[in-house]
Amino acid sequence: MVIDFSLSDSLLEIQARAREFAQGVILPIAAEYDRKAEMPPGMLAKAKEAGLLNVTIPKEYGGMSYGALESAIIAEELGAACVGISITLLVNGLALTPLQLFGTEEQKERFLRPVAEGARLASFCLTEREAGSDASSIKTTALPDGDDFVINGRKCFITSGGHAEIMTVFALTDPNRGPRGVSAIVVRADTPGIRVTKVEDKMGQRASNTVELTFENVRVPQANLLGKPGRGFPIALQTLDFGRSGVAALGVGVARAALEYATAYARERQQFGAPIITNQGVSFMLADMAMKVEASRLLSWQAAWSADQGNKATIKSAMAKCFATDTAMEVTTNAVQIFGGYGYMRDYPVEKLMRDAKLLQIYEGTNQIQRMVIARQLSKQAS
Ligand code: CAA
Repeated sequence: MVIDFSLSDSLLEIQARAREFAQGVILPIAAEYDRKAEMPPGMLAKAKEAGLLNVTIPKEYGGMSYGALESAIIAEELGAACVGISITLLVNGLALTPLQLFGTEEQKERFLRPVAEGARLASFCLTEREAGSDASSIKTTALPDGDDFVINGRKCFITSGGHAEIMTVFALTDPNRGPRGVSAIVVRADTPGIRVTKVEDKMGQRASNTVELTFENVRVPQANLLGKPGRGFPIALQTLDFGRSGVAALGVGVARAALEYATAYARERQQFGAPIITNQGVSFMLADMAMKVEASRLLSWQAAWSADQGNKATIKSAMAKCFATDTAMEVTTNAVQIFGGYGYMRDYPVEKLMRDAKLLQIYEGTNQIQRMVIARQLSKQAS
């Protein structure tokens, strides 16, 4: 067989388990923790118990040894329930990926195993105030001093930064070399000199913790360096290549949820003596929404499957992330429109989906950056 879109029994089992967890454990408390702007206590441990945390980390280190496709199937289910809670679970995997890919056995024993086995939080610390899309222009330094690095600088928009046990920090170990002087370093969050200097108050995905972190003379052993010195930037980008197919899948989940709510509402809501779905204007909106959800899912599965085959994930994960999260924004906005005035009110679920979708177009590389990545790959293929 050349191609088969059906899921194997093991993928169906993973999908069913993730759906049960998402609908039974996350969804009932999603609105409450969105209002509180907190992660529900114990959520990580519950996700780990259900086999839904750090899923791409090898089993021997406390993960599930799943591939990107299994991870995407899980992310869609979790995303359909609450992206704020789900991104916290997913970012853990993102922060631990550099350790998995580039860490030595000793580093994996010291950091990866306790964090993954203990269902603790980890943060991926790349972005700075002046280095968002232009990630290679970071200014945080990690200057060698004896057997240590001394880290100084500020990282912003760090997911789980206020609660993480370890952080993967990207900093200049050789400031004279620009992007080629960036290194990836594992830092314990309780190291003296690390402070949370701002907690962000976000429009959506409010259950996730997003903070600014200040590093002041933070001393970490040079033994915490991941990979080679000066190779931190490619490590960050390779990690993001994996992360982006997961963000795409979250987008599919949010869009699917919005489509399901809007379809049910349009079938039930009567105006002018008939359900509003009988109006062509509404039914064509739903048809467009359904087409884009399906196309987004196929792109997200294809990107993940391709990464699992060992292919370079850059272009396919950028396409999937961009298309699926633009779709999530469009579909959730249209769901609010179909609900009319009710859609704008917090009593109904679709306004949260719309707020949550917006951030998917921004983090792990804005969708303008994804288009740039795709265009650059095309120009390389052409030359
Ligand atoms: N994989 C591995 N290496 C890569 C790579 C990839 N996908 N893409 C580029 N590289 C390497 C290049 O080969 C080059 O290596 P050399 O120095 O050896 O030549 C180096 O990285 C620099 O590459 P570029 O010249 O292409 O870099 P650039 O600065 O022009 O552009 C960019 C790179 C694509 C714009 C990049 O900066 C980018 O993706 N920006 C967006 C940042 C981002 O996604 N931030 C997300 C923060 S994390 C987050 O949001 C998580 C969360 O909390 C929810």
